[in-house]
Amino acid sequence: MKALITGISGFVGSHLAEHLLQTRPWKVAGTVYGPTDNIAHIQGQLELHPLELSDLDAVVRLLEQSRPDYIFHLAAQPVVHLSRKDPWFTLANNIRAQLNILEAVLRAKVKARVLVIGSSEEYGLVYPDEVPVRETNPFRPMSPYAVSKIAQDMLGFQYFLSEGVDVVRVRPFNHIGPRQGLGFVAPDFAKQVAEAEAGLRAPVIKVGNLRAKRDFSDVRDVVRAYALLMEKGESGEVYNVGSGQAREVQELLDVLLSLARVRIRVEQDPERMRPSDIPAVVADCTRLRECTGWAPEIPFEQSLLDVLEYWRQKVASL
Ligand code: GDD
Repeated sequence: MKALITGISGFVGSHLAEHLLQTRPWKVAGTVYGPTDNIAHIQGQLELHPLELSDLDAVVRLLEQSRPDYIFHLAAQPVVHLSRKDPWFTLANNIRAQLNILEAVLRAKVKARVLVIGSSEEYGLVYPDEVPVRETNPFRPMSPYAVSKIAQDMLGFQYFLSEGVDVVRVRPFNHIGPRQGLGFVAPDFAKQVAEAEAGLRAPVIKVGNLRAKRDFSDVRDVVRAYALLMEKGESGEVYNVGSGQAREVQELLDVLLSLARVRIRVEQDPERMRPSDIPAVVADCTRLRECTGWAPEIPFEQSLLDVLEYWRQKVASL
């Protein structure tokens, strides 16, 4: 069996590749675009294809040549607030790549199962009586990113219904871990802590909205769920992936500050406040649990320690 991971050198892709190599007897292939530092340590074990996913002909050629059994389509523009600055870039990028993968499966006549990665952002504005959120909740998107993920989700569903493509869809909630790039709350905070510890900045951390409640999981738990759903998920079905526990962003900050080797003052930065920020979102993962037996294993504090260690090393190497 062969798995193809689009965006294999990204944050989630690199962890998924490691997980599959360690736990499955599958060949692991991936499409790369941009830097490959995240997979340098496993590069020799992977079949890598530099690819622009917006080029349909190139995607068809890749599938004809590589002939995967499983396609984990992770490549996307994932930063919610960037999608507000340049909405069309996110919409065009995320929708086109998803469409090309599904269309190429048909044109290349491969029998691959496709995992379509949506997002909890699809639910968007969630009312207090709707928490924890089930897969049946209405969509009330709050960003162009959310709309792009709804489109990916629905394209997957449509290709399943009308073309018979074997699609499983997921809606992951927030995930954190080493290698996550800046623009997300955990690395944004951890980098500042690491710089303050190294004396590269004043011991002041700039933060945005600390009151938002999010469902944080470790990326290594999330990729475990993806692999299980690839094997056990029901064709056409959609699954939430989250810890089921809501935490304020304040709690994430408190854990990082408690791990810091210097005393750090907290300062609100108006630039980091979003014009609209979803107040609270937490997953109901009954469907995922019943299908696969999955449960998160890595404690929140451990994830944050690993994130901070990653940024300590990165800051030291600059
Ligand atoms: N990025 C960032 N930086 N967020 C901050 C900061 C900061 O300095 N300070 C506070 N926040 C708050 C944000 O306002 C938001 O309420 C929360 O921290 C989490 O922000 P992000 O880590 O940027 O994640 P997100 O919730 O917007 O989106 C992430 O999760 C989605 C799944 O729910 C992304 O990973 C998406 O790609 C993913 O689909």
